[in-house]
Amino acid sequence: MAKTNSKSVLVLHGPNLNLLGLREPDHYGNNTLDDINAQLKARASEANVALESFQSNSEVELIQKLHELATSKVDYIIINPAAFTHTSVALRDALSAIKIPFVEVHLSNIYARESFRQHSYFSDIAVGVISGLGAQGYLLALDFAINKITH
Ligand code: DQA
Repeated sequence: MAKTNSKSVLVLHGPNLNLLGLREPDHYGNNTLDDINAQLKARASEANVALESFQSNSEVELIQKLHELATSKVDYIIINPAAFTHTSVALRDALSAIKIPFVEVHLSNIYARESFRQHSYFSDIAVGVISGLGAQGYLLALDFAINKITH
């Protein structure tokens, strides 16, 4: 994470989101993860906020990335835990431990899908949740985070 700017945001993407663009476009749209990350980076730089995006298919790597934040300065997290949304107490506990505010984002509306997707281990400890607005949801979450950390 660049330290040149005074404020910073980490965007975490969970498993299978590396396949965006190819993966079930009816649910997840046509943008690739690189497209989304580039849009987020551009929006953050306009606001002079540093932004790092990190995707992993591994629960362990995502947890380790969060643990690193204990010693690096990140002001806000935007996370799409993907399938771990519905399964991972461990990832939830890592977010609780580091006490950095976060917004939970889902491309699809998880409440309009299978019942197993309608429970999130993250929503009750998130500042807020954006679900169903596609790639724009990440940008809205970033605008919210920027407003919080720069005002
Ligand atoms: C998702 C929804 C999850 O249920 C699913 O497992 C994903 C993506 C979304 O962005 O809509 O991988 O988090």
